[in-house]
Amino acid sequence: MWGGRFKRGLHPELERFSSSLAFDYELYPYDIEGSVAHARGLAAARVISKAQLAAIERGLRRIKRELDSGEFEFQASDEDIHTAIERRLTELTPAGASLHAGRSRNDQVALDLRLYCRVAAREAIDLVAALVEALGAQAALHAAWVMPGYTHVQRAQPVTVGHHLLAHAEPLLRDARRFQNAFESAGTMPLGSGALAGSTLPLDRRVVARELKLPRLTENTIDAVSDRDFALDLAYACTSTALHLSRLGEDVVLWASSEFGFVRLADEVATGSSLMPQKKNPDIAELLRGRAGRSLGGFVALATVLKGLPLAYDRDLQEDKPALFAAVENALESLRAATLLVERLEFDRERLAAAAADALLVATDAAEELVRAGTPFRTAHEQVGGQVRDGKFEAPWDAKASVAKRRLGVTARAAAIRREAAALRK
Ligand code: ARG
Repeated sequence: MWGGRFKRGLHPELERFSSSLAFDYELYPYDIEGSVAHARGLAAARVISKAQLAAIERGLRRIKRELDSGEFEFQASDEDIHTAIERRLTELTPAGASLHAGRSRNDQVALDLRLYCRVAAREAIDLVAALVEALGAQAALHAAWVMPGYTHVQRAQPVTVGHHLLAHAEPLLRDARRFQNAFESAGTMPLGSGALAGSTLPLDRRVVARELKLPRLTENTIDAVSDRDFALDLAYACTSTALHLSRLGEDVVLWASSEFGFVRLADEVATGSSLMPQKKNPDIAELLRGRAGRSLGGFVALATVLKGLPLAYDRDLQEDKPALFAAVENALESLRAATLLVERLEFDRERLAAAAADALLVATDAAEELVRAGTPFRTAHEQVGGQVRDGKFEAPWDAKASVAKRRLGVTARAAAIRREAAALRK
């Protein structure tokens, strides 16, 4: 591929060290899509003939079939997916040797990764929507089921199961907007930037962008091949989602314990112990917690690649892919798992009601009643605190009345959230 200047090949061990095929293999659908668009651009610019374009497209379609079916034969010298595809294309047709005109792997890989990010972001939005819908549905069903709300994992004030579940849905709706932003920021078409400084060939970049359905063109050739902000945006959206799922997981772990007993885990979302016959463990929820580090780790690894990196392309940038892919795959898998888990949560009404019957949960209500009657809040706080200390506190009303007075508004918000989730899927 760059043999002209060299007498000998790269040392075999260094060939393995620098190969990215094991991970950028995943980019092959985007690489082929990008190459078809680039070839059409070359034909529009009359750099290649219509016959050459037809032969290239036929060859690329065949390579796609070979890769889809697993028949594609890789060679040790295939440094990455881009060289493997181009090598195979030139085996299939002499026109293959003309495809790389006006293009470098630097702008090629910058394009492929943008296309990958658009698809991944779209998929993430759909999965977030499914989880938000599951939380919204459970919240609607349990809108009036009272439970203690917690701070410091200490009983604080009564809330409802619905309200608590919606508190997990709201951050996910914000994540959906983060994924939408990541989708937008990957919407720039970098081809035509070449290695870093463009091309003397009369390429029509708008034709290529239209082929790829990318709404904008990159504006600066150096930035186009160096920019990974779009990947950072996606990795951050994945990290934020994974962190939110870790908190959801932790709540389920607590709720499923005998100490809380607020939920029962259906058999399909629980596991047993190889030793202790009685055990039913919340492993899925624990993994939502434990796996968040994969996304965060990917984000940090990606940001670390970019830190201090000189313009324009540097081979360090190859390391963007394992980092980003790890962040994305974990977020998508965790979203699917979380949805299966949430859909199957069975709440224990009695255990929840028993916990919510703790009179001290409405101590704040009692202080607020004194405030209504004209007592300054600090004085009221002191008085009620004294009653609690002396074991003399009497609840003015129960948890249900307390929840009603605080107008948490679960039913309307659950319905609105489910409409938002449905709109995200379109
Ligand atoms: N495998 C490389 C990557 O993913 C492709 C670009 C290589 N470019 C180069 N000038 N060596 O970044």
